Amino acid sequence: MNKITVEICYGTLCFVMGGEVFETLQEHLPEEIKQVVTLKGMVCPGYCHQQEKYGKPPFVKVQDRLICEANPQKIIACITNLMKDGSNQ
Ligand code: FES
Repeated sequence: MNKITVEICYGTLCFVMGGEVFETLQEHLPEEIKQVVTLKGMVCPGYCHQQEKYGKPPFVKVQDRLICEANPQKIIACITNLMKDGSNQ
């Protein structure tokens, strides 16, 4: 099984809009998810400047899926779906 890449925006707007919770995301992931994800930071890709198109910060990308108003629950749900449908293989 290939690893699932989770990219967290560390831009200022995402950080102040709730992204700071992701600093400890690794610790809060269930063990079976921890084993299949690679967590990365990303510099602001500019989504926050086009909120009418992409939604509200904070933004996190799970593989090629963009999550707006991201929180640990949404991220875990997205990872779980990818694991289920096998699109990470
Ligand atoms: S600060 Fe996160 S998309 Fe701009």
